[in-house]
Amino acid sequence: MKISGILFLVSSVFTKKLQFAPSGPFHEKCQAGSYPEKRVLWRPKSAEINLDLAPIERWSELAKTYSKELHAAVNDVVVLADKIDAKIVPFVREKLPELAETLPQNYVDEMSSLSQGAGLPFGDIVLFNIFYEAFSACTSVVAKNGSGGVHHARNMDFGLFLGFDFKNMTWSLTEALRPSLIHLDFLKNGELQFSSASFIGYVGIFTAVKKQKFSLTINERFNIDGGWVGILEWILGKHSANWLGFLTRDLFEKCDDFRCAQDLLKTAEMVSPVYFVLASGERPLGEIIVRDREDVSQTVKIGEESDPSKSSSWFLLQTNYDPSQEPPFFDDRRHPALKCISELSSENASGENFITKEALFDVLSTKPSLNMLTVYTSLIDIQEGSIESFVRECPFPCTPW
Ligand SMILES: *[C@@H]1O[C@H](CO)[C@@H](O)[C@H](O)[C@H]1NC(C)=O
Ligand SMILES: *[C@@H]1O[C@H](CO)[C@@H](O)[C@H](O)[C@H]1NC(C)=O
Ligand SMILES: *[C@@H]1O[C@H](CO)[C@@H](O)[C@H](O)[C@H]1NC(C)=O
Repeated sequence: MKISGILFLVSSVFTKKLQFAPSGPFHEKCQAGSYPEKRVLWRPKSAEINLDLAPIERWSELAKTYSKELHAAVNDVVVLADKIDAKIVPFVREKLPELAETLPQNYVDEMSSLSQGAGLPFGDIVLFNIFYEAFSACTSVVAKNGSGGVHHARNMDFGLFLGFDFKNMTWSLTEALRPSLIHLDFLKNGELQFSSASFIGYVGIFTAVKKQKFSLTINERFNIDGGWVGILEWILGKHSANWLGFLTRDLFEKCDDFRCAQDLLKTAEMVSPVYFVLASGERPLGEIIVRDREDVSQTVKIGEESDPSKSSSWFLLQTNYDPSQEPPFFDDRRHPALKCISELSSENASGENFITKEALFDVLSTKPSLNMLTVYTSLIDIQEGSIESFVRECPFPCTPW
Protein backbone atom coordinates (compact mmCIF):
# COMPACT_ATOMS: atom_id res chain seq x y z
CA MET A 1 0.00 0.00 0.00
CA LYS A 2 2.77 2.33 0.93
CA ILE A 3 4.59 1.46 -2.28
CA SER A 4 1.70 2.24 -4.57
CA GLY A 5 1.22 5.51 -2.70
CA ILE A 6 4.78 6.48 -3.50
CA LEU A 7 4.44 5.50 -7.13
CA PHE A 8 1.29 7.50 -7.37
CA LEU A 9 3.03 10.50 -5.93
CA VAL A 10 5.84 10.13 -8.42
CA SER A 11 3.50 9.90 -11.37
CA SER A 12 1.52 12.90 -10.21
CA VAL A 13 4.74 14.87 -9.89
CA PHE A 14 5.57 13.83 -13.44
CA THR A 15 2.27 15.26 -14.62
CA LYS A 16 3.03 18.49 -12.83
CA LYS A 17 6.48 18.58 -14.35
CA LEU A 18 4.98 18.53 -17.78
CA GLN A 19 2.95 21.59 -17.00
CA PHE A 20 5.91 23.78 -16.28
CA ALA A 21 8.15 22.17 -18.87
CA PRO A 22 9.18 24.69 -21.50
CA SER A 23 7.45 24.26 -24.83
CA GLY A 24 9.97 22.15 -26.70
CA PRO A 25 13.41 21.29 -25.41
CA PHE A 26 15.68 24.08 -24.26
CA HIS A 27 18.36 24.44 -26.83
CA GLU A 28 21.30 26.62 -26.19
CA LYS A 29 24.61 26.82 -27.94
CA CYS A 30 27.27 24.57 -26.48
CA GLN A 31 29.20 26.61 -23.94
CA ALA A 32 32.80 27.53 -24.64
CA GLY A 33 35.50 28.77 -22.30
CA SER A 34 33.40 28.20 -19.21
CA TYR A 35 36.18 26.56 -17.16
CA PRO A 36 36.75 27.40 -14.35
CA GLU A 37 34.33 30.18 -13.43
CA LYS A 38 31.23 30.45 -15.57
CA ARG A 39 27.98 29.41 -13.91
CA VAL A 40 29.96 28.53 -10.81
CA LEU A 41 28.95 29.76 -7.36
CA TRP A 42 31.97 28.62 -5.38
CA ARG A 43 34.48 25.79 -4.86
CA PRO A 44 33.90 23.43 -1.95
CA LYS A 45 36.18 23.26 1.08
CA SER A 46 38.31 20.17 1.77
CA ALA A 47 38.52 17.91 4.78
CA GLU A 48 40.40 14.76 5.73
CA ILE A 49 38.85 11.56 7.03
CA ASN A 50 41.33 9.47 8.97
CA LEU A 51 40.60 5.78 8.44
CA ASP A 52 43.05 4.88 11.24
CA LEU A 53 40.54 6.26 13.74
CA ALA A 54 37.81 3.98 15.04
CA PRO A 55 34.64 4.42 12.95
CA ILE A 56 32.92 6.04 15.93
CA GLU A 57 35.46 8.86 15.85
CA ARG A 58 35.92 9.39 12.13
CA TRP A 59 33.34 12.07 11.43
CA SER A 60 33.04 13.88 14.77
CA GLU A 61 35.31 16.76 13.92
CA LEU A 62 33.79 17.35 10.50
CA ALA A 63 30.29 17.21 11.97
CA LYS A 64 31.23 19.77 14.61
CA THR A 65 32.89 22.11 12.14
CA TYR A 66 29.98 21.96 9.70
CA SER A 67 27.20 21.51 12.20
CA LYS A 68 25.16 24.38 10.73
CA GLU A 69 25.27 23.06 7.15
CA LEU A 70 24.53 19.53 8.31
CA HIS A 71 21.53 20.62 10.38
CA ALA A 72 20.11 22.57 7.43
CA ALA A 73 20.47 19.72 4.93
CA VAL A 74 19.26 17.00 7.30
CA ASN A 75 16.25 19.04 8.39
CA ASP A 76 15.28 19.61 4.79
CA VAL A 77 15.46 15.90 4.06
CA VAL A 78 13.36 15.08 7.12
CA VAL A 79 10.71 17.66 6.20
CA LEU A 80 10.57 16.42 2.62
CA ALA A 81 10.46 12.74 3.60
CA ASP A 82 7.54 13.70 5.77
CA LYS A 83 5.79 15.29 2.81
CA ILE A 84 6.24 12.15 0.71
CA ASP A 85 4.67 9.98 3.37
CA ALA A 86 3.96 11.10 6.92
CA LYS A 87 4.76 7.58 8.12
CA ILE A 88 8.36 7.39 6.88
CA VAL A 89 10.08 9.50 9.53
CA PRO A 90 8.27 8.02 12.54
CA PHE A 91 8.78 4.55 11.05
CA VAL A 92 12.53 4.99 10.63
CA ARG A 93 12.88 6.57 14.07
CA GLU A 94 10.88 3.84 15.77
CA LYS A 95 12.47 0.90 13.91
CA LEU A 96 15.92 2.30 14.27
CA PRO A 97 17.41 -0.16 16.74
CA GLU A 98 16.28 -3.05 14.51
CA LEU A 99 17.41 -1.29 11.36
CA ALA A 100 20.82 -0.48 12.80
CA GLU A 101 21.39 -4.14 13.65
CA THR A 102 21.02 -5.05 9.99
CA LEU A 103 23.61 -2.56 8.76
CA PRO A 104 27.39 -3.07 8.80
CA GLN A 105 28.65 -2.05 12.24
CA ASN A 106 31.43 0.21 10.96
CA TYR A 107 28.96 2.38 9.05
CA VAL A 108 26.51 2.42 11.96
CA ASP A 109 29.40 3.74 14.04
CA GLU A 110 30.33 6.31 11.40
CA MET A 111 26.76 7.57 11.29
CA SER A 112 26.77 7.70 15.11
CA SER A 113 29.88 9.85 15.04
CA LEU A 114 28.10 12.28 12.70
CA SER A 115 25.07 12.28 14.93
CA GLN A 116 27.09 12.95 18.08
CA GLY A 117 29.35 15.52 16.47
CA ALA A 118 26.50 17.60 15.10
CA GLY A 119 24.00 16.95 17.90
CA LEU A 120 21.43 15.46 15.52
CA PRO A 121 19.24 12.37 16.13
CA PHE A 122 20.90 9.21 14.81
CA GLY A 123 17.71 8.30 12.93
CA ASP A 124 17.79 11.53 10.97
CA ILE A 125 21.37 10.84 9.88
CA VAL A 126 20.32 7.33 8.76
CA LEU A 127 17.41 8.82 6.83
CA PHE A 128 19.74 11.34 5.23
CA ASN A 129 22.03 8.51 4.10
CA ILE A 130 19.08 6.46 2.79
CA PHE A 131 17.84 9.33 0.71
CA TYR A 132 20.77 9.25 -1.61
CA GLU A 133 19.68 5.82 -2.70
CA ALA A 134 16.53 7.31 -4.12
CA PHE A 135 16.64 10.92 -5.18
CA SER A 136 19.44 11.90 -7.45
CA ALA A 137 19.71 12.51 -11.17
CA CYS A 138 22.94 13.11 -12.98
CA THR A 139 25.11 13.12 -16.08
CA SER A 140 28.43 11.26 -16.26
CA VAL A 141 30.95 11.30 -19.09
CA VAL A 142 34.09 9.21 -19.59
CA ALA A 143 36.24 10.05 -22.62
CA LYS A 144 39.43 8.60 -24.03
CA ASN A 145 41.88 11.19 -25.34
CA GLY A 146 44.20 10.99 -28.32
CA SER A 147 47.23 10.11 -26.21
CA GLY A 148 45.62 7.21 -24.39
CA GLY A 149 44.49 9.11 -21.28
CA VAL A 150 41.01 9.02 -19.79
CA HIS A 151 38.87 11.94 -18.64
CA HIS A 152 35.97 11.40 -16.25
CA ALA A 153 33.46 14.08 -15.28
CA ARG A 154 30.00 14.36 -13.83
CA ASN A 155 27.14 16.65 -12.93
CA MET A 156 25.23 15.81 -9.77
CA ASP A 157 21.61 16.86 -9.93
CA PHE A 158 19.73 16.39 -6.75
CA GLY A 159 16.33 17.07 -5.29
CA LEU A 160 13.86 16.04 -7.96
CA PHE A 161 10.36 15.33 -6.65
CA LEU A 162 11.32 16.99 -3.43
CA GLY A 163 9.52 20.26 -3.57
CA PHE A 164 9.68 23.15 -5.95
CA ASP A 165 9.76 26.55 -4.29
CA PHE A 166 7.49 28.56 -6.57
CA LYS A 167 8.24 31.80 -4.75
CA ASN A 168 11.96 31.59 -5.36
CA MET A 169 11.76 29.35 -8.44
CA THR A 170 14.24 26.95 -6.90
CA TRP A 171 14.27 23.37 -5.71
CA SER A 172 14.51 23.65 -1.97
CA LEU A 173 16.64 20.56 -1.34
CA THR A 174 19.03 21.48 -4.14
CA GLU A 175 19.51 24.84 -2.44
CA ALA A 176 19.98 23.21 0.95
CA LEU A 177 22.63 20.81 -0.36
CA ARG A 178 24.86 23.33 -2.12
CA PRO A 179 26.52 24.55 1.10
CA SER A 180 27.12 20.97 2.22
CA LEU A 181 29.28 19.91 -0.73
CA ILE A 182 32.74 18.97 0.47
CA HIS A 183 35.92 17.49 -0.97
CA LEU A 184 37.08 14.57 1.16
CA ASP A 185 40.51 12.95 1.30
CA PHE A 186 40.48 9.54 2.99
CA LEU A 187 43.81 8.78 4.69
CA LYS A 188 45.42 5.69 6.15
CA ASN A 189 48.83 5.69 7.85
CA GLY A 190 49.00 9.33 6.84
CA GLU A 191 48.76 8.42 3.16
CA LEU A 192 46.02 9.40 0.75
CA GLN A 193 43.91 6.37 -0.18
CA PHE A 194 41.19 7.97 -2.30
CA SER A 195 39.27 11.23 -2.67
CA SER A 196 35.60 11.96 -3.08
CA ALA A 197 33.15 14.77 -3.74
CA SER A 198 30.49 14.33 -1.09
CA PHE A 199 27.78 15.93 0.97
CA ILE A 200 28.56 16.50 4.63
CA GLY A 201 26.62 13.84 6.50
CA TYR A 202 26.81 11.17 3.81
CA VAL A 203 29.25 8.37 4.62
CA GLY A 204 29.04 6.68 1.20
CA ILE A 205 30.46 7.55 -2.19
CA PHE A 206 28.89 8.98 -5.33
CA THR A 207 31.97 10.48 -7.01
CA ALA A 208 35.50 9.33 -6.21
CA VAL A 209 38.95 8.51 -7.51
CA LYS A 210 41.80 6.25 -6.44
CA LYS A 211 45.01 7.63 -7.86
CA GLN A 212 46.20 5.92 -11.06
CA LYS A 213 43.80 3.05 -10.39
CA PHE A 214 40.18 3.91 -11.13
CA SER A 215 37.41 6.44 -10.75
CA LEU A 216 33.71 5.94 -10.20
CA THR A 217 30.57 8.03 -10.57
CA ILE A 218 27.10 6.79 -9.76
CA ASN A 219 23.91 7.73 -11.56
CA GLU A 220 20.47 6.96 -10.25
CA ARG A 221 18.42 4.49 -12.25
CA PHE A 222 14.71 5.08 -11.83
CA ASN A 223 12.84 1.85 -11.91
CA ILE A 224 9.43 0.59 -10.83
CA ASP A 225 11.18 -2.06 -8.79
CA GLY A 226 13.32 0.72 -7.50
CA GLY A 227 14.85 2.33 -4.48
CA TRP A 228 11.91 2.44 -2.15
CA VAL A 229 10.85 -1.14 -2.79
CA GLY A 230 14.36 -2.29 -2.00
CA ILE A 231 14.58 -0.09 1.05
CA LEU A 232 11.26 -1.31 2.40
CA GLU A 233 12.20 -4.90 1.68
CA TRP A 234 15.40 -4.36 3.58
CA ILE A 235 13.61 -2.84 6.52
CA LEU A 236 11.24 -5.80 6.49
CA GLY A 237 14.05 -8.28 6.75
CA LYS A 238 15.88 -8.90 3.47
CA HIS A 239 19.42 -8.32 4.55
CA SER A 240 21.60 -9.74 1.82
CA ALA A 241 21.55 -6.61 -0.37
CA ASN A 242 24.08 -3.80 -0.20
CA TRP A 243 23.39 -0.17 0.44
CA LEU A 244 24.85 1.80 -2.42
CA GLY A 245 26.93 4.11 -0.28
CA PHE A 246 28.38 1.35 1.89
CA LEU A 247 29.23 -0.83 -1.11
CA THR A 248 31.06 2.00 -2.84
CA ARG A 249 32.98 2.88 0.33
CA ASP A 250 33.99 -0.78 0.66
CA LEU A 251 35.03 -0.73 -2.98
CA PHE A 252 37.39 2.19 -2.54
CA GLU A 253 38.83 0.75 0.66
CA LYS A 254 39.36 -2.78 -0.67
CA CYS A 255 39.98 -2.60 -4.42
CA ASP A 256 43.30 -1.61 -5.87
CA ASP A 257 42.57 -2.04 -9.54
CA PHE A 258 39.90 -1.58 -12.16
CA ARG A 259 39.28 -5.31 -12.44
CA CYS A 260 38.46 -5.73 -8.76
CA ALA A 261 36.14 -2.70 -8.88
CA GLN A 262 34.45 -4.07 -11.98
CA ASP A 263 33.87 -7.49 -10.41
CA LEU A 264 32.42 -6.09 -7.21
CA LEU A 265 30.08 -3.69 -9.02
CA LYS A 266 28.81 -6.50 -11.23
CA THR A 267 28.24 -9.12 -8.58
CA ALA A 268 27.07 -7.38 -5.39
CA GLU A 269 23.34 -7.53 -4.71
CA MET A 270 22.02 -4.00 -4.45
CA VAL A 271 19.23 -2.39 -2.45
CA SER A 272 18.33 -0.29 -5.48
CA PRO A 273 19.03 -0.35 -9.24
CA VAL A 274 21.78 1.98 -10.38
CA TYR A 275 24.23 2.95 -13.14
CA PHE A 276 27.90 2.62 -12.25
CA VAL A 277 30.26 4.60 -14.47
CA LEU A 278 33.78 3.28 -13.99
CA ALA A 279 37.02 4.43 -15.60
CA SER A 280 40.50 2.95 -15.43
CA GLY A 281 43.74 4.78 -14.78
CA GLU A 282 45.83 1.87 -16.01
CA ARG A 283 44.52 1.58 -19.54
CA PRO A 284 42.10 3.70 -21.57
CA LEU A 285 39.08 1.77 -20.36
CA GLY A 286 35.66 2.93 -19.36
CA GLU A 287 32.49 1.02 -18.66
CA ILE A 288 28.87 1.71 -17.77
CA ILE A 289 27.43 -1.08 -15.65
CA VAL A 290 23.64 -1.04 -15.72
CA ARG A 291 22.52 -2.76 -12.55
CA ASP A 292 19.25 -4.32 -11.56
CA ARG A 293 19.10 -5.06 -7.90
CA GLU A 294 20.31 -8.62 -8.39
CA ASP A 295 21.83 -8.80 -11.86
CA VAL A 296 23.71 -6.84 -14.47
CA SER A 297 21.18 -5.69 -17.05
CA GLN A 298 23.71 -4.36 -19.57
CA THR A 299 27.29 -3.16 -19.86
CA VAL A 300 28.58 -0.57 -22.29
CA LYS A 301 32.29 -0.10 -22.96
CA ILE A 302 34.43 2.47 -24.69
CA GLY A 303 35.37 1.24 -28.14
CA GLU A 304 32.30 -0.88 -28.87
CA GLU A 305 30.80 1.60 -31.31
CA SER A 306 32.45 2.80 -34.52
CA ASP A 307 30.37 5.96 -35.11
CA PRO A 308 32.34 8.67 -33.22
CA SER A 309 29.20 10.74 -32.61
CA LYS A 310 27.70 7.98 -30.47
CA SER A 311 28.29 6.99 -26.86
CA SER A 312 30.56 3.91 -26.49
CA SER A 313 32.78 5.02 -29.39
CA TRP A 314 35.65 7.06 -27.90
CA PHE A 315 33.48 8.20 -25.00
CA LEU A 316 30.63 7.12 -22.71
CA LEU A 317 27.69 9.31 -21.77
CA GLN A 318 25.22 8.29 -19.09
CA THR A 319 22.25 10.22 -17.73
CA ASN A 320 19.40 8.44 -15.90
CA TYR A 321 18.03 6.18 -18.63
CA ASP A 322 19.19 2.85 -20.00
CA PRO A 323 21.70 3.18 -22.83
CA SER A 324 19.60 0.75 -24.90
CA GLN A 325 16.54 3.00 -24.68
CA GLU A 326 15.64 6.51 -25.75
CA PRO A 327 15.30 8.96 -22.88
CA PRO A 328 11.75 10.26 -22.34
CA PHE A 329 10.95 13.52 -24.13
CA PHE A 330 10.41 15.41 -20.88
CA ASP A 331 13.89 14.62 -19.56
CA ASP A 332 16.25 14.34 -22.48
CA ARG A 333 19.66 15.46 -21.28
CA ARG A 334 21.34 12.85 -23.47
CA HIS A 335 20.94 14.32 -26.94
CA PRO A 336 21.95 17.90 -26.05
CA ALA A 337 25.12 16.54 -24.38
CA LEU A 338 25.83 14.26 -27.37
CA LYS A 339 25.51 17.26 -29.64
CA CYS A 340 28.09 19.21 -27.63
CA ILE A 341 30.47 16.24 -27.53
CA SER A 342 30.18 15.68 -31.27
CA GLU A 343 30.87 19.36 -31.93
CA LEU A 344 34.34 18.65 -30.57
CA SER A 345 35.04 16.60 -33.68
CA SER A 346 36.23 18.23 -36.86
CA GLU A 347 35.85 17.15 -40.47
CA ASN A 348 38.90 14.94 -40.41
CA ALA A 349 39.40 14.06 -36.75
CA SER A 350 37.22 12.58 -34.03
CA GLY A 351 36.68 14.43 -30.78
CA GLU A 352 39.20 12.30 -28.95
CA ASN A 353 41.93 14.45 -30.46
CA PHE A 354 40.45 17.56 -28.90
CA ILE A 355 38.94 16.40 -25.63
CA THR A 356 40.26 18.11 -22.52
CA LYS A 357 38.86 18.58 -19.04
CA GLU A 358 37.99 22.14 -20.04
CA ALA A 359 35.97 20.83 -23.00
CA LEU A 360 34.12 18.42 -20.72
CA PHE A 361 33.37 21.26 -18.34
CA ASP A 362 31.78 23.14 -21.28
CA VAL A 363 29.60 20.12 -22.11
CA LEU A 364 28.42 19.90 -18.50
CA SER A 365 27.88 23.68 -18.33
CA THR A 366 25.41 23.68 -21.21
CA LYS A 367 21.67 23.55 -20.48
CA PRO A 368 19.96 21.19 -19.91
CA SER A 369 22.96 19.09 -18.75
CA LEU A 370 23.28 22.01 -16.38
CA ASN A 371 19.83 22.61 -14.91
CA MET A 372 18.16 23.91 -11.80
CA LEU A 373 18.79 20.66 -9.94
CA THR A 374 22.52 20.66 -10.62
CA VAL A 375 24.32 20.93 -7.31
CA TYR A 376 27.85 20.33 -8.49
CA THR A 377 30.17 19.42 -11.35
CA SER A 378 33.29 17.32 -10.78
CA LEU A 379 36.26 16.82 -13.07
CA ILE A 380 38.33 13.79 -12.21
CA ASP A 381 41.99 13.31 -13.12
CA ILE A 382 42.79 9.67 -12.48
CA GLN A 383 46.53 10.05 -13.06
CA GLU A 384 46.78 12.88 -10.54
CA GLY A 385 44.21 11.25 -8.28
CA SER A 386 42.42 14.58 -8.07
CA ILE A 387 38.83 15.78 -8.22
CA GLU A 388 38.05 19.40 -8.97
CA SER A 389 34.51 20.23 -7.90
CA PHE A 390 32.36 23.29 -8.49
CA VAL A 391 29.07 24.29 -6.88
CA ARG A 392 26.91 25.30 -9.85
CA GLU A 393 24.20 27.75 -10.64
CA CYS A 394 22.04 27.72 -13.70
CA PRO A 395 21.08 31.25 -14.64
CA PHE A 396 17.47 32.00 -15.51
CA PRO A 397 15.88 30.96 -17.82
CA CYS A 398 16.94 27.44 -17.02
CA THR A 399 15.28 24.05 -17.34
CA PRO A 400 13.89 22.94 -13.98
CA TRP A 401 15.58 19.50 -14.29
C1 LIG B 1 45.30 12.89 -22.11
O1 LIG B 1 45.38 12.11 -20.94
C2 LIG B 1 46.67 12.05 -20.37
C3 LIG B 1 46.60 11.06 -19.21
O2 LIG B 1 45.60 11.40 -18.31
C4 LIG B 1 47.09 13.42 -19.92
O3 LIG B 1 48.39 13.36 -19.38
C5 LIG B 1 47.04 14.37 -21.10
O4 LIG B 1 47.32 15.69 -20.67
C6 LIG B 1 45.67 14.34 -21.74
N1 LIG B 1 45.67 15.16 -22.92
C7 LIG B 1 44.96 16.29 -22.99
C8 LIG B 1 45.04 17.03 -24.29
O5 LIG B 1 44.24 16.71 -22.08
C1 LIG C 1 13.49 32.38 -0.79
O1 LIG C 1 14.19 33.61 -0.94
C2 LIG C 1 14.17 34.44 0.18
C3 LIG C 1 14.82 35.76 -0.18
O2 LIG C 1 15.96 35.58 -0.98
C4 LIG C 1 14.86 33.73 1.35
O3 LIG C 1 14.84 34.54 2.50
C5 LIG C 1 14.13 32.44 1.64
O4 LIG C 1 14.80 31.73 2.64
C6 LIG C 1 14.07 31.58 0.36
N1 LIG C 1 13.29 30.39 0.63
C7 LIG C 1 13.79 29.18 0.49
C8 LIG C 1 12.87 28.08 0.81
O5 LIG C 1 14.92 28.97 0.09
C1 LIG D 1 42.15 18.62 -40.85
O1 LIG D 1 42.17 19.15 -42.16
C2 LIG D 1 42.61 20.52 -42.21
C3 LIG D 1 42.43 21.02 -43.66
O2 LIG D 1 42.86 20.03 -44.56
C4 LIG D 1 44.03 20.60 -41.72
O3 LIG D 1 44.47 21.94 -41.75
C5 LIG D 1 44.12 20.06 -40.32
O4 LIG D 1 45.44 20.04 -39.87
C6 LIG D 1 43.54 18.67 -40.23
N1 LIG D 1 43.48 18.28 -38.84
C7 LIG D 1 43.90 17.11 -38.40
C8 LIG D 1 43.79 16.88 -36.91
O5 LIG D 1 44.35 16.24 -39.11
